[in-house]
Amino acid sequence: MPAILALETSCDETAAAVCLLDGTLASSRLHSQIAIHRQYGGIVPEVASRSHITKVKPLVEAVLDEAGIGLSDVVAYAATCGPGLVSSLLIGTSMAKALSVAENKPFLAINHMEAHLLSPFVGLPEITPALGLIVSGGHTMLVKVKAVGDYAILGRTRDDAAGEALDKVARMLGLPYPGGPEIDRIVREQSGDPKAFEFPRSRLPDAPLDFSFSGLKTSVLYTLPKVEIQAPGVMANLCASVQEAVVEVLVEKTLHAAQQHKLETVAVSGGVSCNSRLRAALAEACEREGLRLLLAKPHLCTDNAGMVAFTAVHRFRQGKTSPLTQEVDPHWRLDA
Ligand code: KG4
Ligand code: ZN
Repeated sequence: MPAILALETSCDETAAAVCLLDGTLASSRLHSQIAIHRQYGGIVPEVASRSHITKVKPLVEAVLDEAGIGLSDVVAYAATCGPGLVSSLLIGTSMAKALSVAENKPFLAINHMEAHLLSPFVGLPEITPALGLIVSGGHTMLVKVKAVGDYAILGRTRDDAAGEALDKVARMLGLPYPGGPEIDRIVREQSGDPKAFEFPRSRLPDAPLDFSFSGLKTSVLYTLPKVEIQAPGVMANLCASVQEAVVEVLVEKTLHAAQQHKLETVAVSGGVSCNSRLRAALAEACEREGLRLLLAKPHLCTDNAGMVAFTAVHRFRQGKTSPLTQEVDPHWRLDA
C-alpha cells in the first residue's frame, strides 16, 4: 500500500509516522524528551537536537515495521520545516531529505501549525470548511479553514500562548514542567472550585478574536503572597480558577468566530486541547449552538508525526511537493 513517511522534530518530541495515501494512519510513534528537560524547567535547544539525532533512525525503523511496509512502499518523505526551533527542525528535515535522495522520491515540507489544524480530521474521509482553534504551548490561533492549503488567520495571541500561560502559572505554583497537564490533573483529582478566585478574562474589544493571557499571569503573581498555598484545597482552587479563566475565553472566542464566519464545524487541536475541562466546555457550547465539534484524538493533540504524515498525504494528493533546497523556517506562517 503506498504511504508517506513523516518526521516531526520541531521542538522536544522526536516523532515518526506512516500515513497511507487513503488517509489511514498506519503508525505514529514518538520519543518524549519531557524527562530530560524537566530538570531545567523548560526546553534547552541544544539538548533537544542532540537527543533527536539519537532517536530519529530507530523511530523510522519502528514505524515502518509497525505499518508493515518497506521503503519501496513509501512514495514521499515529509518533515516539519517550521515553525519551531531551528536546531531541532534541522534533524527531522535532514533525515527526510536524505531518505528522499537515497530512495529517489519526493520531499514535502510541512508547516507544524497546518498539521495541528488538520489533526481533528484524522480518520474522517474529507476535510470540510471549519473554524480551527489551535491551542498549544507556542500558539493560540483561530483559523478559517476553507480547504486544504487555504487558510485565513482570524485571531491570535498578543502575548503568551494558552499553554505557555498555563505552564508559567504552574511554575509559580511550584508544579513540574509542563504545567498544563498537572493543572488539569489536580483540578480533576481534587475537585478544585473554579469560582474560588477571580482571575481576569481579557476580551480585547478592539480585536475580539485576539487573545491575551499576560494579565492572568500577573494576577496570579499578585494573588500568591496573599494565600496559604499549603492549606487544604487552596492549590486545587487556584488551579481550577486559572484553568477556568483560560477555558472560558477560548470557548467564547471560538464560538464567536464560528458564528461570525458562518462555519458549522469547529476543529480543535494542539496540546492544550487535551485539557479535560476545555473538551467538556467546548462539547457543551457546540451542542447548545448546533455546531459540529471535532476534537483531535488525545495522542494527536500534543506534538506528534501522525498529524504531519496526514497533512502530507492531503498535500501530496493535491500534487504538491517541495524542493530539497527548501530551508527550515522558525517563523513559517500558516497563511504564507
Ligand atoms: O502542541 P504541543 O505539544 O506543543 C507545541 O507545539 O507547543 O503543546 C504543549 C502544551 C504545553 O503548554 C502543555 O502544558 C499543554 O500543551 N498541555 C495541556 C494539557 N496537555 C498538554 N494543557 C492543559 N491541559 C492538558 N491536559
Ligand atoms: Zn505543536
